[in-house]
Amino acid sequence: MENQYNYYLTIFLVLIFPFFYKYFFNSRRNNLPPSPLAFPIIGHLYLLKNKPLSTLTSLSAKYGPVLYLRYGSIPVLIVSSPSAVEECFTKNDIIFANRPRTMAGDWLTFNYTAYIWAPYGQLWKILRRLTVMELLSSNSLQKTSNVRDQEVVNFTRSLFKFCNGRSRNVDLTNWICTFSFNLMNKIVAGRHLVSEEDAGMGKGIAMIERLKGIFIVDLPVLNMCDFLPLLRWIGYKGLEKKMRLVHNQRNEFLNNLLEEFRLEKVSVVNREKQNTLIGTLLSLQESEPEFYTEDVIKSIMLVIFIAGTDTSSTSLQWAMRLLLAHPEALHKLRAEIDSQVGNEHLLNESDLTKLPYLHSVINETLRLYPPVPLLLPHYSSEDCTVGGYNVPKHTILLVNIWAIQRDPQVWKEPNEFKPERFEAMEGEKEGFNYKLIPFGMGRRSCPGATMGTRAISLALGALIQCFDWQSAGEENLELSYNSRINIQKIKSLEAICTPRSNFVQLLSQL
Ligand code: HEM
Repeated sequence: MENQYNYYLTIFLVLIFPFFYKYFFNSRRNNLPPSPLAFPIIGHLYLLKNKPLSTLTSLSAKYGPVLYLRYGSIPVLIVSSPSAVEECFTKNDIIFANRPRTMAGDWLTFNYTAYIWAPYGQLWKILRRLTVMELLSSNSLQKTSNVRDQEVVNFTRSLFKFCNGRSRNVDLTNWICTFSFNLMNKIVAGRHLVSEEDAGMGKGIAMIERLKGIFIVDLPVLNMCDFLPLLRWIGYKGLEKKMRLVHNQRNEFLNNLLEEFRLEKVSVVNREKQNTLIGTLLSLQESEPEFYTEDVIKSIMLVIFIAGTDTSSTSLQWAMRLLLAHPEALHKLRAEIDSQVGNEHLLNESDLTKLPYLHSVINETLRLYPPVPLLLPHYSSEDCTVGGYNVPKHTILLVNIWAIQRDPQVWKEPNEFKPERFEAMEGEKEGFNYKLIPFGMGRRSCPGATMGTRAISLALGALIQCFDWQSAGEENLELSYNSRINIQKIKSLEAICTPRSNFVQLLSQL
């Protein structure tokens, strides 16, 4: 029996030896970045399973800020220091400007035309330029500042009505998502998704839950099936089926928006006047139908919905969660708003430059709880070097900003919520010298950073200006941040809200 066991063990070791040999000696010979030992065939895929974010962070602490893994046969580079980030997004920016092809990409991007996921090339350039020019440049943001201001008025007014002159327990997650979806839909289609009367009530709550099920879904951008195609063929965890379902729901939602817009039979001139994204896209479709196909139009709308709602609403919830846990910071922020804005008008975009502490609170929130902690995956198109190591082409790059933004060698008391730290950092160069990069860097960085920051600042500012807040219960903040590989899901947030007595007059006149 024992002989038989030894016999099989020897055969097993002989079979796996070439994989270890190839991996171990090749990595030495080729000057690849440091890496833990890999299993045959699956490589380091086992690390993708539980809490990938904390696993990657502890591996980087052990092996260094330039770490090399192999998921199945695909090389993955994980960087977690400001200097490595700088190298990736300056010297190697074009090389890493691609995105990998994945199962999520196959199903959720209208055949890679959704430019958040499109390969680096002509289509990506045209679509990114279009949305920047139409929506996200400082010029267009200037033109649409009244839309954001008005959305904050609507949001504050409905919350005031909901409170009905007393303290009420509010589901802040639902309210904040209502604000984000309404703002984005206003920009995309010129109308709200949840009416003011329905906000916070049964119908409005149900609508937001439906929208979250379509746009804020728990589907990993990278998963096991991307690295072991066999798993995809056997339908691993029903992931592909779920992605197909989500694609169909999104497609139906976007088709309905387009159809409604077309049914209104708005003339081309009026559409442009309405200043909505759909209006602009349909006009472009009329002049260049071969390029602006129905799928391309839907992919642009999708990008704005996906990229703009989840990230902004998650950050806003974190900001409120942190302020509730740190009443001294909340009072300091309120004192700044009271002295700079007062109680004669609701805070608006032109006030934002006078509120540096508000800006610091948002920076500190994005430092501690970046909504996209590994950025979106990048993909190299050529061989290059990072940190003195060779990185082969067709490597996936993950940037662990969670680790950088909490690194004690980079930040003093990194786990403390201290917005004041940013007051002393004004004037540092890009991304605070690559130490704070919640929007990414380089050519694939977030084009909506300014719009996102303004929307969060306005909504947060108005919530603190007009209402008193009390936490609805103690909770462990760290536990609410789960270690998913892409956008973080946040536990829902409840708080007790009371209209401030010296704001009742202003609020009743909104
Ligand atoms: C707090 C708010 C936001 C955060 C933290 C955020 C963060 C990010 C991050 C980390 C990326 C990936 C960068 C990379 O791959 O290196 C990204 C990409 C992107 N974001 Fe944002 N974002 C926010 C708001 C917005 C808004 C409001 C919009 C538009 C309305 C937007 C549009 C996009 C687009 C289109 C991309 C893809 C860029 C490309 O692949 O070329 N984001 N964002």
